[in-house]
Amino acid sequence: MSQEVFRHPVLLREFKETDLEQVFNLASTVFDEQYRPETFLHFHNAWPQGQLVVQSPEGRILGFIFGVMAENGQCRIMLVAVTPMMRGLGIGVRLIRDFETRAAVGGSKRICLELRYSKTRLLEFYRRLGFLVEGVLPLYYSDGEDGILMSKPIQWNI
Ligand SMILES: CC(C)(COP(=O)(O)OP(=O)(O)OC[C@H]1O[C@@H](n2cnc3c(N)ncnc32)[C@H](O)[C@@H]1OP(=O)(O)O)[C@@H](O)C(=O)NCCC(=O)NCCS
Repeated sequence: MSQEVFRHPVLLREFKETDLEQVFNLASTVFDEQYRPETFLHFHNAWPQGQLVVQSPEGRILGFIFGVMAENGQCRIMLVAVTPMMRGLGIGVRLIRDFETRAAVGGSKRICLELRYSKTRLLEFYRRLGFLVEGVLPLYYSDGEDGILMSKPIQWNI
């Protein structure tokens, strides 16, 4: 997987409320589902350390990851996206790896996520990052498509 992004001066940091407009606009162009701006603020308020963005030197948001931390120590990746022009440069991997570290620091033992059954490229992407298929979620999406549940145990690498 490309590590080219390390040659680009991008900044990975926690989401701030002032990022909302850019994050919302990126989400609206990338996802079929429409998310309300309040949803991102809800995630942020519940667990600020788990909501991350990648920013260009000019302050443009190039990608983000949003997740939730449940009380049982299980973490869930809710949304991850990179702007189309900047894909394939390692930003997605960086966001997920940093999220995993924050989940571990927050006491999580396991990260899970769901994706559409038809997204085979995305499935391989998560597999390469150590996620395993747990099962199929029948009719999981509002348009009737099945979902796939994946998970990854959190390990401390010392
Ligand atoms: C999935 C995604 C976040 C990856 O970000 P990225 O910065 O391009 O990822 P990286 O550069 O770190 O890694 C590259 C890998 O991402 C995956 N990828 C890249 N573009 C992709 C796309 N359009 N769809 C699915 N996976 C993609 C591939 O596995 C790719 O590796 P490959 O080229 O060897 O197949 C990005 O493609 C994206 O925003 N997709 C649309 C939103 C989405 O489906 N999000 C996940 C569900 S919430």
